[in-house]
Amino acid sequence: MTFSKINVNIDVVHLTGFEVVPFLILLTIAGCVGRPLPSKLDDVDKQPLQTSRPYNIAHRGSNGEFPEETAAAYMRAIGEGADFIETEILASKDGVLICSHDVTFDLDNRTNIANFSQFADRKRTYEVQGVNMTGWFVVDFTLEELKLLGVNQRFSFRDQQYNGKFPIITFKEYISIALDAKRVVGIYPEIKNPVFINKHVSDFPCVIIILGSKKIIPTQLIRSNGQMGKKFEDKFVETLMKFAYKGSYMSKEWLKQPAFVQSFAPTSLTYIANLTDLPKIFLIHDVTVLKEDTNQTYYDITSDSYLDFMKNYVVGIGPWKDTIVTTKNNYLNEVTDLVAKAHARGLQVHIFSWCMMSKICEHSQ
Ligand SMILES: *[C@@H]1O[C@H](CO)[C@@H](O)[C@H](O)[C@H]1NC(C)=O
Ligand SMILES: *[C@@H]1O[C@H](CO)[C@@H](O)[C@H](O)[C@H]1NC(C)=O
Ligand SMILES: *[C@@H]1O[C@H](CO)[C@@H](O)[C@H](O)[C@H]1NC(C)=O
Ligand SMILES: *[C@@H]1O[C@H](CO)[C@@H](O)[C@H](O)[C@H]1NC(C)=O
Ligand SMILES: *[C@@H]1O[C@H](CO)[C@@H](O)[C@H](O)[C@H]1NC(C)=O
Repeated sequence: MTFSKINVNIDVVHLTGFEVVPFLILLTIAGCVGRPLPSKLDDVDKQPLQTSRPYNIAHRGSNGEFPEETAAAYMRAIGEGADFIETEILASKDGVLICSHDVTFDLDNRTNIANFSQFADRKRTYEVQGVNMTGWFVVDFTLEELKLLGVNQRFSFRDQQYNGKFPIITFKEYISIALDAKRVVGIYPEIKNPVFINKHVSDFPCVIIILGSKKIIPTQLIRSNGQMGKKFEDKFVETLMKFAYKGSYMSKEWLKQPAFVQSFAPTSLTYIANLTDLPKIFLIHDVTVLKEDTNQTYYDITSDSYLDFMKNYVVGIGPWKDTIVTTKNNYLNEVTDLVAKAHARGLQVHIFSWCMMSKICEHSQ
């Protein structure tokens, strides 16, 4: 299967209003569409990605200024010089990939959903990574419904004037923001809560367009593991491929449209390692947090043998900064050996996250 024609079907998807065209039929589609590619994908005159100093990755956009993961936050981050814009990808009830940090819309008051009387009866309790959570869950809302919501500033000590003014954006809209930038700006999407999403969004919509007709038949695809239906990870990689994100770290293709794929879930990373050679980052949480899919501990995943295994399919680790330098009473305490162990294996280290506010500077922002 070749993916070289994948750009072409962006127009097809756009025209039909459907989210997904299965890659099994891409050649068919490519053969019947004569429209030119969007010019932004062919732009060769852009200022290239800087590679001489560490990357500046805008975590959830410029979220100190605008509500996080909104178009405004990402555009401001690009204006401020970010090399990459970072996001978390989740899925709506109808299988559309969206940018949102949390599986619920009301955690930390981060949207104005409480003001929508038509959604009052939509609160649910689900188990998320071993904990029962109650709230309005992304997987219970269609894209059309969640587009009604406005995003709030997460922390009360930040500027509240934009609360409710910007909508949640889709993965595609986020990609368009990066591609529309006047210089090369990379993307840094996370496959977020994959166990939860695969459990609650049972299938991602796909359509088959019969050559020479407008007939659209809902169908299921054979997953890359041979089973029927698509997984969240399939849809995630398909979206990247549609927008021509491909190539290993520092390859010519990668430098043109740089992307890192990040996840806390090792099974998602190994699964997509079979689908794309884009560089992957293995996220590492607080020492108390177990892996959502494999139940491995922090000590399991940072052991010498596991780092040796991991380096075969990821280019780096993305640890929470307190696992690099521990803190005591809000002061730096001890430097751990994690960076040395990663560097000894040629693994990059992308730490999260740094902010100008000392008040809440933990992983949760
Ligand atoms: C939630 O955000 C709204 C602004 O949209 C604000 O008026 C309200 O006080 C916030 N509620 C809490 C509990 O922080
Ligand atoms: C709900 O609407 C009221 C009035 O417009 C506003 O003050 C409040 O902040 C809103 N709540 C949320 C959670 O956005
Ligand atoms: C979550 O709630 C359900 C229903 O009350 C219960 O069966 C389950 O054990 C709870 N899970 C956790 C992790 O507390
Ligand atoms: C990746 O592909 C190989 C070879 O087909 C297969 O053995 C392996 O199970 C796949 N890995 C995952 C995680 O799907
Ligand atoms: C995960 O591991 C912990 C101990 O590390 C154990 O107590 C727990 O039962 C395990 N959970 C699952 C679902 O295997």
